[in-house]
Amino acid sequence: MNSTVEVCFVCLGNICRSPLAQGVFEALVKKEGLQDRIIISSAGVGHWHVGNPPDSRMQQTAREHGIHLNSRARQFQDSDFKKMDLVLAMDHSNLSALEQMRPAPELNDKLFLFRSFDPEHNDNLEVPDPYYGGDKGFETVYQIVERTCPKVLDHLKTKLAKKA
Ligand code: 4NP
Repeated sequence: MNSTVEVCFVCLGNICRSPLAQGVFEALVKKEGLQDRIIISSAGVGHWHVGNPPDSRMQQTAREHGIHLNSRARQFQDSDFKKMDLVLAMDHSNLSALEQMRPAPELNDKLFLFRSFDPEHNDNLEVPDPYYGGDKGFETVYQIVERTCPKVLDHLKTKLAKKA
């Protein structure tokens, strides 16, 4: 049987940044024919938007790039860590919230900042929260996510190879 790996993208509300990362990553993984090997989800550290679809501005930006977002917001649970191989936080505040759920040694090789995989991060490891800004912020998030997802995929391929 083929082994699988599971990744979760995490932001604050799970209606802007992490649903976009989920949608872009799903499209990439499908293009590479790895959809049966890589399980993809997203979540928020906050509970305010649970059950909601992605923000309409994020959906619009994604659509302009040929990506359809169809997730519903959920809150990340402590128990999610157990099944995840990789958890990627969109900013330092999301990262701290996740770190508070588990003792550090358990998270060593599975919890990272999403932009630590960004080939152009220039030491800025935050995906800026676009929620209270203008439409330009959503395109900025898209550009970061688009160039970072292939590097995340490379990392997961390595994990898959180790599990095989
Ligand atoms: P996200 O953006 O964390 O990228 O989903 C936000 C969505 C909602 C809020 C903040 C950020 N909010 O304050 O409701």
